[in-house]
Amino acid sequence: MTIETQLLVVDPQRPDTAVLTRAAAVIQAGGLVAFPTETVYGLGADGLNETAVRRIFQAKGRPAHDPIIVHVAETADLPRVAANVPQMAYELAARFWPGPLTLVLPRGTAVPDAITAGGPTVAVRCPQHPLAQALIRAAGTPIGAPSANRFSHTSPTTAQHVWDDLAGRIELILDGGPTPIGVESTVLDVTGAAPLLLRPGGVTVEELTAVLGPIHVFERQGKAPAAMPAPGMLDRHYAPQAELRLFTGPETAVRAAMRRTIALERENGRGVALLLAAEDVPYFMDLDAPIGNVGSLQNLSQVAQNLFRVMRELDVPATDLILARDFPAAGLGLAIRDRLRRAAQRFISTG
Ligand code: TXA
Ligand code: MG
Repeated sequence: MTIETQLLVVDPQRPDTAVLTRAAAVIQAGGLVAFPTETVYGLGADGLNETAVRRIFQAKGRPAHDPIIVHVAETADLPRVAANVPQMAYELAARFWPGPLTLVLPRGTAVPDAITAGGPTVAVRCPQHPLAQALIRAAGTPIGAPSANRFSHTSPTTAQHVWDDLAGRIELILDGGPTPIGVESTVLDVTGAAPLLLRPGGVTVEELTAVLGPIHVFERQGKAPAAMPAPGMLDRHYAPQAELRLFTGPETAVRAAMRRTIALERENGRGVALLLAAEDVPYFMDLDAPIGNVGSLQNLSQVAQNLFRVMRELDVPATDLILARDFPAAGLGLAIRDRLRRAAQRFISTG
C-alpha cells in the first residue's frame, strides 16, 4: 500500500505551531512521523500504541525481534515507560539528558510488546534536539522511534535521506535540517550488576567512564560475534548497496593497499569509490576516482557528522566497491569505527 508522504520544513528553534499540531495529530491517530534528533532522523509513532508501533516495522521492513527506543521529553516521564529504575539511571540522566544516551531499563507495564520485542527491558532516550522535544511534548505521549531508514540501510542525517528510503510508506517528514551529531545514540544497559555498553554513540565511553568508572565495552573485530549477544549488536547494518571494504593499519600502508586495490579492481571493470579522511585526499587526487571526504582526523565530530551522508553519496549505481579507511577509537571514533565495521563486507589489515 502506498500512502501520500508530506514533507514540511520547520525551523527547529521556532517550530511553527500549526505544523506541530498536525504532526502531533498524526502520532495520536497511530500514524508515522519522521523527525530530526541531534543524532539521526527518527521514525516516530505513539510508543504506547501497539498497532502504531507495528506500522514502524512494516514501513522499515524491520524484523519484529529488533526492539525500539522510546523517546521521552524529560526524566520525569521515565515512570511512564520503565519500572524499578535503578539509581544509576537517574545519575546518568542527570548528567547526559537531554542528549545522545539511551538507557536500557526494566520495562514498564504500559509499554507494548512491539517496542520491547517481547523482552523484559525497554530502551529509553531523552533527545536534546528542539524539534524532537517539541514533537514529544505536543504529542503528549512517549514516541517510539528507530532510525528513519529502510532496515539495515545507512541511517538518515537529512530529511532527503528519509524521503529516499520511506516516501510512500509514512504520513509525514519534518525537515529540521541536517542532524548535528550524525551517528546514533550510545546504548547502555543498566539492568545488570554492572553497566554494559551495547552500542557506542554520541556520548563517548570516556564521558561515561568519568561518571561510572571503567565500563565493559564490546568491540566488534570485524566478523559477526559468534553468538548474538543482545539486540543493539546486530551486524550487517548501516550498509550501502555497493560492497564496502574497510582498510585498517598504519596510514602509509593503508593508503598503499588502497591504491593497489583500485588498480586491480579497475582491471576487473569495477567502479571504485573512496571514503577518506581529509588528510588522505592528496594521495588519491591523481586517480580520477570518486572521493568522499568525511573530514579531518583531528576533528572526529566533523567525521561523525559527515559519515552517513558520504556513504550515501558514494553509493550510486556506477560504484561497485567503496574502499574506506578506518578511524582511531578515541572519543567519537569508537562509534565511527563501529558503524564502518557493521557496514563492511571485508576487512583488509595492512602493515
Ligand atoms: O540515536 C538514536 O538512538 C536514534 C534516534 C532516532 O533516537 N535511534 C536509533 O534507533 O538508532 P535504532 O532502532 O535504529 O537503533 C536502536 C538500537 C537497536 O540496535 C536496538 O536493537 C537497540 O537499540 N535496542 C532497542 N531496545 C533495546 C533493548 N530493550 N535492549 C537492548 N537493545 C535495545
Ligand atoms: Mg537504526
